[in-house]
Amino acid sequence: MDSVCLWSFLTIGWLLGTVYGNDCVGRKFDEDSIVCVCNATYCDSVLVQVPGKGSFRSYTSSVAGWRLYREEGVFRSAMNNEIVLRLDPTKRYQTIHGFGGAFTDAAGFNINSLSERTQQQLIRTYFGRDGNRYNLGRLPIGGSDFSMRGYTLDDVPGDITLSNFSLALEDMKYKIPYMKRALELNPNLKFFAACWTAPPWMKVNNQYSGLFGNLKLEYYQTFANYLIKFLESYKQLGLPMWAMSLGNEPVDGFVPFVPINDMPFGPRAQAKWLVNNLGPALAQSTSWETLLLALDDQRILLPWWIDIMYQTADVGKYFSGIAIHWYADAVAPATLLDMTHQKYPDKFILNTEASYVPYPWDPVPVRLGNWHRAERYIHDIIEDMNHWVTGWVDWNLALDVSGGPNWEFNPVDSPIIVSPQTDEFFKQPLFYSIAHFSKFVPPGSARIGLTSHCDIRSVAFSTPDNEIVIVLHNREKKSKNITVVDPEQGEVNVQMPPRSMKTIIYKQ
Ligand SMILES: *[C@@H]1O[C@H](CO)[C@@H](O)[C@H](O)[C@H]1NC(C)=O
Ligand SMILES: *[C@@H]1O[C@H](CO)[C@@H](O)[C@H](O)[C@H]1NC(C)=O
Ligand SMILES: *[C@@H]1O[C@H](CO)[C@@H](O)[C@H](O)[C@H]1NC(C)=O
Repeated sequence: MDSVCLWSFLTIGWLLGTVYGNDCVGRKFDEDSIVCVCNATYCDSVLVQVPGKGSFRSYTSSVAGWRLYREEGVFRSAMNNEIVLRLDPTKRYQTIHGFGGAFTDAAGFNINSLSERTQQQLIRTYFGRDGNRYNLGRLPIGGSDFSMRGYTLDDVPGDITLSNFSLALEDMKYKIPYMKRALELNPNLKFFAACWTAPPWMKVNNQYSGLFGNLKLEYYQTFANYLIKFLESYKQLGLPMWAMSLGNEPVDGFVPFVPINDMPFGPRAQAKWLVNNLGPALAQSTSWETLLLALDDQRILLPWWIDIMYQTADVGKYFSGIAIHWYADAVAPATLLDMTHQKYPDKFILNTEASYVPYPWDPVPVRLGNWHRAERYIHDIIEDMNHWVTGWVDWNLALDVSGGPNWEFNPVDSPIIVSPQTDEFFKQPLFYSIAHFSKFVPPGSARIGLTSHCDIRSVAFSTPDNEIVIVLHNREKKSKNITVVDPEQGEVNVQMPPRSMKTIIYKQ
């Protein structure tokens, strides 16, 4: 290629890159698929553009290495593919709150291990317009297991007036700076918080974790005040919390050998605490607008947990939503979500945590490029969305290659794994499972009617900008041709490569 040709080639490449985004730079480790490698100057990105009426666009990711690969199509009729799904935009279900991840100490520590420019690439790939457009960010109140040490925001024993309450070094160094940078990229970003445990001195076992660590009765109000002090402190820093749960995984403290900061709190005791202590005090505080979320634990506890809470008079006045985690979903039928929605239709359901944890048959916390884990994620998101869940929030935004740091030795996988030695980060297949929703389905979208087919997983939405978004997942090793019939516009015909996920978008 002579220099003029090379120059125009590069210019056209640059122009296309500016308009559509950057391709994934794939790297293969010892797994069935790739990671996309990002550094200080380069990261794959996709700016979603919706074509004029009559055409649709689709974005596909696959085990073979496609990442949001873009294709065009026009509506046709009578293609008669074997798999036919019928859309019904007049049937509207839940309104979507959004998608996101968690600003843990570990995530901030890992982001901080990269150069300034690589950090910015990482924040942008999650929160930027050409990134995942995350609009929800979860925040532990004080430490969690994904911290470098055990701590709370007031570790001075017996400090019942909370005069020693203060935000920690971790808030200043590993959380707030990255929350602010994310907020600059997406001004619609909403934060929500959860506390893993009360300060040990308020608990029966005087520990951050372990069994029999109930909150002492005499500290019910003190603990409520502690949480409100957290909300007010962050609000003063320009980071108000949209919501707060009643506590992360209140069941863990009843289970032996759980390596997580925790505090057991049953639904009956928690409801009383909410009605007598937290609810009224929050209403009196400057953070009265913060919504409260019940449960913040496994789906399998529904609707039982909420039923027990409702035995306390007036409890429904004090909380707005029900937060669920994905870890036991394999043994918790999605019909539990339907039952919960039918019984408590005014309480929205939000998935507030998911991560791929090591199992005895798959004990390695981080597997770079593993496609199966991405399939587990998208399966769960599709299932949740088809059963009234209004959003899906992942766990740590970034971890290291061993799935940490985690001071309680509980490593897990993450959509982004950092490599500080090379000043790079790796976008796992998991990243794209969430991208297939978060980039296309903004908050305020509604799930709409779409018939199902046993050979394909599917869900559809209508966005506030009147776009139709359809997400499909082919988990089989052969490719599939699919027709989606839109009653107004005709047929969308697409081919799904083996083990792939696809998002289709068009104007309504
Ligand atoms: C960053 O990645 C791009 C694309 O892979 C590559 O061309 C460039 O050399 C990398 N920069 C550094 C400093 O490694
Ligand atoms: C706690 O606060 C009190 C009063 O402000 C102060 O005198 C004391 O030194 C603090 N204790 C610690 C351990 O910081
Ligand atoms: C799917 O459609 C393509 C053309 O769009 C065709 O070449 C292929 O044979 C079809 N596959 C099946 C399984 O029908």
